[in-house]
Order: sequence, then structure tokens, then C-alpha cells
Amino acid sequence: MTEATMTVPAHVPAHLVRDFNIFFDGSYDEVFSHWKGLHDEDRPEIFWTPRNGGHWIVTRAEDVETVYGNGDLFTTVPYGNAIPYRNTPAPPLPIASEPPEHTEYRRLINPFFFPKRIQKVGEHARQLTRDIMDRLIPQGGCEFYNDFAMFMPIYAFLGLAGLPEEDWEMLMPWAQTVVREPDMEVAAATTRDAWAYLKSRVDVRRTQPGDDPLTALVQGEAFGRRLDENECVGSALNILFAGVDTTPATLSFVAHHLATHPDHRRALIDKPSLIPAAVEEYLRRFPAGVTGRGVKNDMEYKGVTMKQGDPVLSPALLGNLDERRFPDAMTVDFDRKNVAGQTLTFGAGPHRCIGMMLARMQLRVFLEEWLPRLPDFWVAEDDVPLVRCGTAMAMTHLPLRW
Ligand code: HEM
Repeated sequence: MTEATMTVPAHVPAHLVRDFNIFFDGSYDEVFSHWKGLHDEDRPEIFWTPRNGGHWIVTRAEDVETVYGNGDLFTTVPYGNAIPYRNTPAPPLPIASEPPEHTEYRRLINPFFFPKRIQKVGEHARQLTRDIMDRLIPQGGCEFYNDFAMFMPIYAFLGLAGLPEEDWEMLMPWAQTVVREPDMEVAAATTRDAWAYLKSRVDVRRTQPGDDPLTALVQGEAFGRRLDENECVGSALNILFAGVDTTPATLSFVAHHLATHPDHRRALIDKPSLIPAAVEEYLRRFPAGVTGRGVKNDMEYKGVTMKQGDPVLSPALLGNLDERRFPDAMTVDFDRKNVAGQTLTFGAGPHRCIGMMLARMQLRVFLEEWLPRLPDFWVAEDDVPLVRCGTAMAMTHLPLRW
């Protein structure tokens, strides 16, 4: 393990080193037991993995919350929240900023995520869902990730962002490469392509303004001035990569769970008033993002010596599967109490996800539209679903039949 030995810094003691690579593929059971295994009694709760340039991983809900939410200890400046760090032409914003600058950047795009807007996008998402289902139902089955999950939320997102629907074909592979490609050179080249694309879209807004976040970035003011080009494109990049892959990823796990749990399907069909609680519980059980921070200053954190700039991964999944916060955490239970208040799916603190209402709405629309029309569906017996993990995890192959 040559790379491994190189990426254990001198301040990390040997008893806190474990080999864990966030980039891996596997079946549903393999993937979740691999992650959940990090809670085993004989594992340190905070450990260093030499993989991907080397980084800490915190495994318990309390620490995941602190890493996301305590900007005095853990920061997104200067690189953002991706581990390993993604080489972008300029920092992605608002994620790679901290208050008070962060508040200014976020203020410009906030209105596009207010309930009235989301309601409008919701109507679009509902119509899209109906149209896609009209096409899929006569087929007797589909590969859910490519045939559904990647369409509905992304077309709805493009509508919100004021981007042309035909751009979908280009955007989707980019988003997937950026979040699940272990080769940093490939990820960086893709990011540069996305940067050039967004720069051209941002430029258009200077002469042809619309009612969309890109126009708000170009025309609006922060810090008493217009944003420069890097700030505008960096913000567009953050919205794009945070918004495009995450909801499809969550939908893929929800569909898999429903396909393998007829009782849960039945419960939601018989009692649709359960759907909002089901959305929260699915978000808890299947959080897509696997992100983190850098250590702000040299410090001791819970007895662990951390140095300024050490990357710290805080997977929401581990926080949400922590039995100390959610008893019987691996089980999907629509009757679980106070899920939204404790879940780490959308992070914590000032960077808490700006798109969370949009994501919730899209999941709700899916459950409301899909289940009454397709009450019975299952995983194809002659095929195997595949989960891919990286800085976001998704079931990228989900063969369904009905
Ligand atoms: C189920 C779907 C989603 C999940 C699980 C999710 C998860 C997250 C998480 C964990 C964070 C905090 C990251 C951190 O602090 O390191 C975050 C931030 C963010 N999300 Fe989401 N997200 C989802 C959907 C969306 C959508 C649909 C959009 C936009 C259309 C979006 C845009 C953003 C942005 C711009 C940030 C950065 C906020 C800031 O730095 O203030 N997300 N998201």
C-alpha cells in the first residue's frame, strides 16, 4: 500500500488508521453493511484513511453534525466540501465561503428556493412524472435510474435554473463523473467542461436576463458590488452539481425499497397522509451526499490531534444510521418521530442545503404519482441492482418489473 503509507501524516497515530475507500461499487447489502461496519465496537469513532490523498472520517451523528455545522472548527474555505478536493477553476459558491461572505452569496439565490417557486416547479415535476409513466407503464418494466430517476428531477431542476432541457444529455454524465469518478484528473477535466458551459450560459444572462438564479447572480449585488465572473460561474457550478445528482440518487433508493417492501407500498397507497413522513424517513435512511470539511486550525478534537487543512469526511449516512440518534436505524419506519429535526441528510448550520424543499417536493410527487398507478412492482429476478459510492452514492442500475 505505497500510496497509503505516503498519505498518513506524522501527527496521525497508527491505531487511528483504517483502510476505507469512499469510491466503491457493490450490491445494496454489500454497500450498506460496508458503511455500517464503521460503527463496529472495535473501530475508532474517528479514524484516518490513507485513501484518496488521506483524510479523517467521523462516524457518529454528534460529530457529523459538528463537522457540518461548527465553522469555528471545520471550514469549507478554500476548497468547498468535496473530499478528495475537486480542482475547480475558482471556488464553488456559496459552499466554499463562510459567514459573513456566505450569507451574501446565498442571499442572491435564496428567493429561487422559496415555497412559491418550489410549488411551481412541483407542478412541472408532477406533469413530467405523469408523462414518463405514460411511456414506461406499457413496457412492463424499466431500468429505474436511467429511465426515471435521471429525468424527472433534472428536467424540473433545469426549469428552475432557466437552462434549456436539451442540455440534459450533456449535464447528467458530467454530474455523475464529478461525484463518482475516483480519477481526479478525469474529474477535473469534466469540471473544466462544465465550467466552460456555465460560463457561456452566464454570459448570455448579461444581455438576455431571465427570471432565474443565473440572472440573479449576474445582475444582483453582494458586498455593494456586482459579482465577478468567477463568483458567478462558481455559484452556478455549485447549484448544478449539488442539485443534479442528489435527488435522482435518493429516488433510486426509495424505488428499490418500495420494490422490495410490499407492506410499505401498501401503507402509502392505503393512507397517502403518511407520505410526508415517508419522505422524511427515506431521506434519513438514504442520504446521498458524502462530503466534509477542512480542519480550520491545529487542534485536539475529542482527544484526536488534527492539523490545519486536514480533510475530514462527515458522511450524513453514518450520522443517520447511528443508533445513538436513531434506534433500529437500518429499518425504514414511517412512524419514527422527529426525523426532520435530527436528520443530517441536508447537512447542518449555515450551509444546510438550499434545495431541501425542492428535493422533498420531488420525492413527494414521485410517491403520490407512482404508487396509485403502479401499486405492484419488483426487482427483476434475472438482473442485479448496483450501488455506486463516491462523494454521492446512488443505485445506478435498478431493473424493475411490473
Ligand atoms: C435529496 C437531495 C439533496 C440532498 C441529499 C442534498 C444534500 C446537501 C447537503 C448535505 C448539503 C450541505 C453540504 C455541506 O455542508 O457540506 C447541501 C448543500 C447544498 N445543496 Fe443540496 N441536497 C439535495 C438537493 C439539492 C438540490 C435539488 C439543490 C439545488 C437545486 C441543492 C443545492 C445545494 C446547494 C447550492 C448547497 C450549498 C449550500 C451552502 O453552501 O449554503 N441541493 N445539500
